Amino acid sequence: MSVIEALQTSQDEITECKEPRLDLSGMKFQTKAIHAGIDPDPATGAIATPIHQSTTYQFKRMGEPGEFEYSRCGNPTRKALEDNLAALEGGVYSAALATGQGAQITLLNLFQQGDHIICGNDVYGGTIRMLNLLKKNAGIEVSFIPLTDVDRVRAEIRSNTRAIWIESPSNPLFNIVDLEAIAALARENDVISIVDNTLLTPYFQRPFQFGIDLVVHSATKYLSGHNDGLGGVIICRENKFVEDIAFTANALGAVLGAFDAWLILRGIKTLALRMREQQKSALKIANFLQSHSAVSRVYYPGLPDHPQYALIQKQTSGFGGMLSFELKDGIEKARKLVEGTELFYMTESFGGVESLIQHPQTMSHSSMSPEALAEAGITEKLVRVSVGLEDCDDLLADLERALDA
Ligand SMILES: Cc1ncc(COP(=O)(O)O)c(C=O)c1O
Repeated sequence: MSVIEALQTSQDEITECKEPRLDLSGMKFQTKAIHAGIDPDPATGAIATPIHQSTTYQFKRMGEPGEFEYSRCGNPTRKALEDNLAALEGGVYSAALATGQGAQITLLNLFQQGDHIICGNDVYGGTIRMLNLLKKNAGIEVSFIPLTDVDRVRAEIRSNTRAIWIESPSNPLFNIVDLEAIAALARENDVISIVDNTLLTPYFQRPFQFGIDLVVHSATKYLSGHNDGLGGVIICRENKFVEDIAFTANALGAVLGAFDAWLILRGIKTLALRMREQQKSALKIANFLQSHSAVSRVYYPGLPDHPQYALIQKQTSGFGGMLSFELKDGIEKARKLVEGTELFYMTESFGGVESLIQHPQTMSHSSMSPEALAEAGITEKLVRVSVGLEDCDDLLADLERALDA
């Protein structure tokens, strides 16, 4: 057998193994998290997805590539992650990009000069910064408004409105947007609805169930889950946008590298367990903060006094592992707290196993103008925490000591 024939035979074998080994359609989230898109490696039998650190792939014949050709266009490790996330969100297609911002700019490339986008006024500061950049440099019109008010959103729709960008729960104030109502409004007006599902992940919230068109994530957060992998994803509910997104992801080239794809894929296997445990501790911490004399207000969707408690119970199966709170004594107390905790590291980001604390006004949301911060309600007294997987008693003791110092 010639080398070419041998290669041909082994590639035919690989092709034969491509049908998913398991029918996961009736199975539960945790089973899909471990198995969807992931089959044992046909070449070796390895059950852990290999890190395919190859930029390029051998063609079968002239003009006839195999499934993979060049890693910007497609990479087997990245593909396993993409298939896994499409299954977890209940979509038909997913593209994995280098960061959450990489996913956002790839998706926003669907729009052009003169298009109008409506975006929540309290979404991640980097999303606001990106949309403001597109407004300045690409002639895209953007309205930042509170999406909790459906009538206000309806009134903002213009003849050139092409998209509504939602983050629910929003960050850092955990406002909840009625996904079903906004998706219906978008559909009536031929507008694309997009949800940034980073905070709750598909374990707690699946926006496609409410008719949302596209989901984006910063996979850097809970999906990766260990504060060690950067990534972003776009997931499509229907085939309608698949071609454009796949084309744009390849054309812009901000794709996810194999090693980060592998880290995120590994993270997702324990997503459900981490989310459940982080939520349990977050609720305990929210209750503790609510009863602490230094705290004037706690923002956590799992507290019954959250203004949209009924809505979040309707559209999600959990509240997540993040919360924020205001301190009665203002910015000096906030500074003392974020600089005073030992287990909660003062950092940007969230969603990992290490607990984190930060001051949104000067950190994650510092790119927002003072007016935009005031309108969104992000005050200098506000502190945000991402609850990790340390023992909750130790986390409570750390916060209590720093608050009482
Ligand atoms: C809700 C949300 N979306 C998107 C992003 C951007 O993700 P990345 O930092 O992976 O680019 C972030 C980052 O913090 C975020 O919090």
